[in-house]
Amino acid sequence: MKPFPTVFSDSESVLQPKSVDPVSAEALQALGGKGFHIQIGITQADVPALQALSVQESIIKYCPRDCTERFKDQETVREWLRKERLVFLLKEAGTGELAGIAWTGPGTSPHIPDGKLTGGVRLSEHFQGLGLATPFLAAALAHTKHAYSSELLWFECWQSNAGAVHIYQKLGFQIVGTEPGARPTPTGPPEPDTRVYMILA
Ligand SMILES: CC(C)(COP(=O)(O)OP(=O)(O)OC[C@H]1O[C@@H](n2cnc3c(N)ncnc32)[C@H](O)[C@@H]1OP(=O)(O)O)[C@@H](O)C(=O)NCCC(=O)NCCS
Repeated sequence: MKPFPTVFSDSESVLQPKSVDPVSAEALQALGGKGFHIQIGITQADVPALQALSVQESIIKYCPRDCTERFKDQETVREWLRKERLVFLLKEAGTGELAGIAWTGPGTSPHIPDGKLTGGVRLSEHFQGLGLATPFLAAALAHTKHAYSSELLWFECWQSNAGAVHIYQKLGFQIVGTEPGARPTPTGPPEPDTRVYMILA
């Protein structure tokens, strides 16, 4: 098992189906057929596209801290990487355009006592609804498990984010708890919603 990265990558490295586990290889083939590949690791040159993604309306709706904390600028990304983040960038192979980001890394939750790893996924609005998120996240999770750590992985999300809940369940996540709460909104008061906690069994 490898230690999770903590710094920017020096160069772009594309995951190749031949060099990964069978689940990731199948997902990479599916993405390749649609004209996409996965870069592993993030370079400093990737940050502007990530900043642009983080201010899209659908990203701000469910992931408001992306544009204020995680991906605000080079320094916030550098700080975020220090938490041990294995970053996967989905890119359109022909243009190099950033289509999405997924990551995994150590994380704990009071709601999931045995959970040791967490992660996230975002698809740029230009590429949502094309069936890319499921194979993208499948490859990221399988590669994490096979090459980095097979500790218990947990995710949390808002119940109203039905597309996200759907793809997580399709990938094998099981809901282990829910909690009524209020989802922050960018401009108005928080909206009633339910936090959903899940594990990849
Ligand atoms: C969540 C997200 C990654 C999904 O990406 P996407 O490109 O829309 O996903 P895909 O096209 O690969 O698949 C979406 C699946 O969810 C289903 N879906 C979409 N909206 C849905 C809804 N409201 N209810 C139920 N299912 C829904 C689709 O039918 C599709 O199902 P299928 O693969 O079985 O046909 C993307 O919408 C996104 O980045 N959202 C903003 C950031 C975010 O919310 N991240 C997750 C935080 S927890």
